[in-house]
Amino acid sequence: MSSPREPIGVVGTGYVGLVSAAGFAELGNEVHCIDIDAGKIERLKAGEIPIYEPGLAEMVGRNRERMHFSTDIGDALRSARLLFVAVGTPPTYSGDADLSAVNAVVGTMPASDRHALVMKSTVPVGTGRDIKRLFAEQDKTGFRYVSCPEFLKEGSAIDDFIRPDRVVVGDDSDWAGDAVVDLYRPLLTAEHGGDGPGALVRTDIASAEMVKLAANAFLATKISFINEIANVCEETGADVIEVARGMGLDDRIGPKFLQAGVGFGGSCFPKDVMGLKQLAGNSGYHFQLLSAVIEVNELQKRRVIGKLHKHLGGTLVGRRIALLGLAFKPDTDDMRDATSLVLIARMQAAGATVSVYDPVAEDEARKLIRGVRFAGSALDAVVGADAAVLVTEWREFKDLDWSAVAAAMSGTTVIDGRNALDADAVKAAGLTYEGIGRS
Ligand SMILES: NC(=O)c1ccc[n+]([C@@H]2O[C@H](COP(=O)([O-])OP(=O)(O)OC[C@H]3O[C@@H](n4cnc5c(N)ncnc54)[C@H](O)[C@@H]3O)[C@@H](O)[C@H]2O)c1
Repeated sequence: MSSPREPIGVVGTGYVGLVSAAGFAELGNEVHCIDIDAGKIERLKAGEIPIYEPGLAEMVGRNRERMHFSTDIGDALRSARLLFVAVGTPPTYSGDADLSAVNAVVGTMPASDRHALVMKSTVPVGTGRDIKRLFAEQDKTGFRYVSCPEFLKEGSAIDDFIRPDRVVVGDDSDWAGDAVVDLYRPLLTAEHGGDGPGALVRTDIASAEMVKLAANAFLATKISFINEIANVCEETGADVIEVARGMGLDDRIGPKFLQAGVGFGGSCFPKDVMGLKQLAGNSGYHFQLLSAVIEVNELQKRRVIGKLHKHLGGTLVGRRIALLGLAFKPDTDDMRDATSLVLIARMQAAGATVSVYDPVAEDEARKLIRGVRFAGSALDAVVGADAAVLVTEWREFKDLDWSAVAAAMSGTTVIDGRNALDADAVKAAGLTYEGIGRS
């Protein structure tokens, strides 16, 4: 890192934007963070971190003097030539990505031949082409465009920034692509002048856009695949944990994303799988496999209801069920498209009363869930419960005192929706354990 690092702008200070901004500040860049949410910017200016992400508050704290927060995009444009876009691209009713936030940012770009937009948001293939066409129509051809999709995982986002598997840069082989590679250089392998682990994939814009969608769709496919294997295991007496272990040792398969459970959720997989399916459909191709991946995932969430019926006498009417975990995965407060939302709605529709506990996602969950009892602890949640269902595999649930749980519950059923608990410890406490795909 001999040459001075250039100031950059980051538009959108959510999970991706704030982590990226803090990461680049840690590398030595001045970072101008822009968001339209004035309340969020005020909180950030006051040193408050609006999301839960391990290590993020510390990293922002360490780099406060290099991180500048504003609602005015002009502040970023004046200082920086690279403007990273990290605004949300949620699904629309049609399943396509909603690009209104991206388009709003694009609309504020001035005619300039010294600036570039660097797209971190996950967008359909062709978005870069469309934005460049729009710039051309508006006599802004000097404005450069780079696709630099983000692969961080909530819960380990800081580590993912610092130690990326790969950095994908899609561009028109111009100064902007070079500048983005320079920014990431310390995180890249020695082959690319860095001392990090990140392989560099420098490619065209459309291919970079597709890498992101294809990677998420593949991971989701792996999850739906192992969930179907788990369901067959239940019918045939095999144990999916043993099966996944045996499969994962084949290095063509690998052990990751072979954990059977109650289906994937979150702000990325469901929307990106659907987005790729729609993108294919809009271009005239029926992506049959992804239709199955989505359907399997929806059915998988509902299988828990069948398990509860089996253990609770064929009905949930009047039954009390405790949900352990609400966030779509551990170590985040993100509730977007969380499996817990579907489970709670199904349980309530079937007549059950539901108590819930999550160590960090309660505030986010309260915005989305009605009619449940928010408990102050896991033990509080299971008081009087006929059944407990583990939905998010937070560490503290694995360490629960199962004798205390058994004493607090009025029933004995424990459904381990993530195959994360020690089945023997649960059973030793006199409880009935059922996982996903276990013999
Ligand atoms: N969250 C993840 O794990 C993850 C991982 C990889 C990629 N992505 C992708 O990154 C993008 C951002 O995701 P996120 O989870 O960080 O979203 P987020 O909702 O947490 O953050 C988006 C931020 O953008 C702000 N914003 C919206 N419109 C704006 C505008 N016109 N100008 C300035 N700010 C604006 C919002 O106020 C919000 O703070 C999405 O496309 C997502 O698919 C997310």
